Amino acid sequence: MDNINYDCRLNFPATIRNRESIASVLSNYISPNSLLLEIASGSGEHGVFFQKKFPSITWQTSDPELVHRKSINSWIKHEGLYSKMPEPIDLDVEMRPWPITKSIKSLINGIVCINMIHISPWSCTRSLFEQSRKYLDQSNFLMLYGPFLRKERQTSESNLNFDQSLKIQNPLWGLRNLNNVNDIAIENGFKLDHVIDMPANNLSVIYSIK
Ligand SMILES: C[S@@+](CC[C@H](N)C(=O)[O-])C[C@H]1O[C@@H](n2cnc3c(N)ncnc32)[C@H](O)[C@@H]1O
Repeated sequence: MDNINYDCRLNFPATIRNRESIASVLSNYISPNSLLLEIASGSGEHGVFFQKKFPSITWQTSDPELVHRKSINSWIKHEGLYSKMPEPIDLDVEMRPWPITKSIKSLINGIVCINMIHISPWSCTRSLFEQSRKYLDQSNFLMLYGPFLRKERQTSESNLNFDQSLKIQNPLWGLRNLNNVNDIAIENGFKLDHVIDMPANNLSVIYSIK
């Protein structure tokens, strides 16, 4: 990784705002000496932050976009974490099977997916659960973070506007209804463990294997 140019680092401003509150939720689920697989790691800013916050674990990033994987690698190098953090995996949730090695699989304690399911087609949410199921056992967890629609609660104006703006960018995108996500989870052998209100009208949603 010596040739990595720091200039490949991208900045996703929301990561600075939400990383502490996400870390605080994660701290309840993380087991020492295990591996967390992050789906859709984006810039990699979350990855390096969580790796430093939880030094006993291995934070395994992934993203299908080359520009994001380059950014992740640059952040890893910039933060001096390259001896601890593996390189990002080129992983699109719709791949079948996911390109996860046996050694990674044997260490996985949880799968974390932050701000992806509303910025990808619904088929990606389905694949996320279908494939995650293959890498988790009953002591593990799957955590989603992001904005959701909820049947029993009025959606904030900011989330309604965000939903509209996503649909303008791509009609297959948009905030997901938590009940629909839960249905997919149950179909794939998960149960809903916790729904945690987060700042700025986001949720952390924790599933485990039934
Ligand atoms: C809004 S960004 C969120 C990035 C990061 N998790 C964060 O919170 O800053 C959405 C991410 O989803 C990734 N993504 C989109 N479609 C995907 C797919 N089919 N499989 C995996 N990742 C995907 C994008 O490459 C991008 O990094």
